[in-house]
Amino acid sequence: MGIEAQEASKREVAEAAVREVDPNQPLALGSGSTVLWVARALAQRFATSPPPRLVVASRGVEEVCRQLSLPLTSLEEVQEFALMLDGADEVDPALDLIKGGGGALFREKILARMSRELLILVDATKRVPRLGARHPLPVEVVPFARPFVQRRMEALGLPSVVRSRPGSSQPFRTDNGNVILDAPLPAKPFDARELDRALHAIPGVVETGFFLGMATRVLVAGAPGRVEELARS
Ligand code: 5RP
Repeated sequence: MGIEAQEASKREVAEAAVREVDPNQPLALGSGSTVLWVARALAQRFATSPPPRLVVASRGVEEVCRQLSLPLTSLEEVQEFALMLDGADEVDPALDLIKGGGGALFREKILARMSRELLILVDATKRVPRLGARHPLPVEVVPFARPFVQRRMEALGLPSVVRSRPGSSQPFRTDNGNVILDAPLPAKPFDARELDRALHAIPGVVETGFFLGMATRVLVAGAPGRVEELARS
C-alpha cells in the first residue's frame, strides 16, 4: 500500500470511529498518525457543538489538539474513560497488539487500562498472522538500567537495538525521558503473556509494547469506503 492510500485509510477509519464518540464523556486518545486523523475528525464533527474533553498519550498529539482548539484535561479530572481510540503497529487474529512504534506505549497503556472500551484503528497492513511478524517489540526502559536490561533481554532470547531519533544517531527519548529498545520477536511460536511477564520482572523495564487482551474492537480500513469491524470473541 502506498503512503497516500495508507493515509486515506487512516483518515477513513478515524472518521468512522469519531462517529461513535459521545461528547458528554471524556475521551482517551493514544498517539500516532492515525490518532492525528482522529483529532482532525473530532474538530470537524464538533465544529459547531461542544466536543468531548480529551486526555492524550503524547505531547505531539497534545500540541495538535491545542492547534485544533480541542479541550484537553488530565488524569486529575478523570477516573475512567468509556472509550479510548488508538492505533497499533500489529493486530493478530486474537486482537492482541504490538504498539509503541511512536514511542508512546507507556502512557497509551495507562489510558487503555482506564478505558472500558479500547477501539483500535488500523489499515489492513497492520493485520498479522502472529505478533512480531513485521514489527519488533518496543520496550521502554529507564536510561540508567539500559545496558543491564539489554543483557537480561538477550538472555531471554530477545536481542534488541536502542531506538534512535529519526535522522540522528542520538537515542530517541520518550515523553517520560526514557529510551526504547526494539526487539525482534522469535519466528518460532512463543507465549506472549509469559514473555511479557518475564520482561516486566526486569528492573528498569518501564513498559512493553504488548497490549494483550486489551483491545475490545478493531476497525480496519480496507478498500476505499470499506471499514471492517473485528470484535473480541
Ligand atoms: C505509538 C503507537 C501507535 O499507535 C502506532 O505506532 C501506530 O501508529 P500510526 O497510527 O502512526 O500507524 O503505538 O506509540
